Amino acid sequence: MLTKRLAACAELVSGRGIACDVGTDHAYLAAELLRSRRCKSVIASDIGEGPLQAAKRTLEQMGLLQHAELILSDGLRQIPPEGVTDVIIAGMGGETMIHILSECTWMQADVNLILQPMTKAPLLRSWLTENGYSLVQEKIVQEGRFFYTVMQVQQDGKAHSLDAFERELGTVDWDEETVRAYGRFRLGHYRRLAKQMQAAQPEMAEEYRRLAGQLEEKCRAEEETQ
Ligand SMILES: C[S@@+](CC[C@H](N)C(=O)[O-])C[C@H]1O[C@@H](n2cnc3c(N)ncnc32)[C@H](O)[C@@H]1O
Repeated sequence: MLTKRLAACAELVSGRGIACDVGTDHAYLAAELLRSRRCKSVIASDIGEGPLQAAKRTLEQMGLLQHAELILSDGLRQIPPEGVTDVIIAGMGGETMIHILSECTWMQADVNLILQPMTKAPLLRSWLTENGYSLVQEKIVQEGRFFYTVMQVQQDGKAHSLDAFERELGTVDWDEETVRAYGRFRLGHYRRLAKQMQAAQPEMAEEYRRLAGQLEEKCRAEEETQ
């Protein structure tokens, strides 16, 4: 069974054609897409030979290897685009995702792109919106005390803009209880940062106070309508 984080990625896969799991590691996501019959075939790719061997073992053990193509690749460089309808890049830092997408020569509007950054989500959001990608939707998933962001993205070639609040916290649905729990978690974080930075970086401290204020309002307004 998948973790909630990977299950949230799997749920966004269209299943229209080949799903390419970039940085597949043990191929848990790729294997589940096949096992659940969400996809008829997958590409499981990784930059490392070791993870790719682990992926092969998982797919072999589950009797799914004949439906998967294993490809050693830095991001999408060595991936043949024919038939690829979904690309999932999960469990990596936002900067690595930016590297992968900026090096990709074949990304198109009809590819359903699912990104699950472990770090630097605000930087990734800025890069995406400044480079012709739109954020179709964002989900927040909670596993114990950790929150994860899952983004569904489409390359539409248009310039998009995000305000500071959206850049930091994403284009999430504040009606959802998990999103508000995430909001409360971030609120504590911004308040602590504002305090720590007050003396040395008062402008940054003010920015964090502003975010905290907006966040407080957002969580309160949504709770009042429940
Ligand atoms: C922490 S694992 C994440 C595995 C799985 N996607 C998940 O979310 O649980 C990160 C994987 O990404 C791979 N990776 C890192 N940089 C990569 C790149 N530029 N291209 C392809 N794979 C990469 C690593 O080798 C590693 O197997």
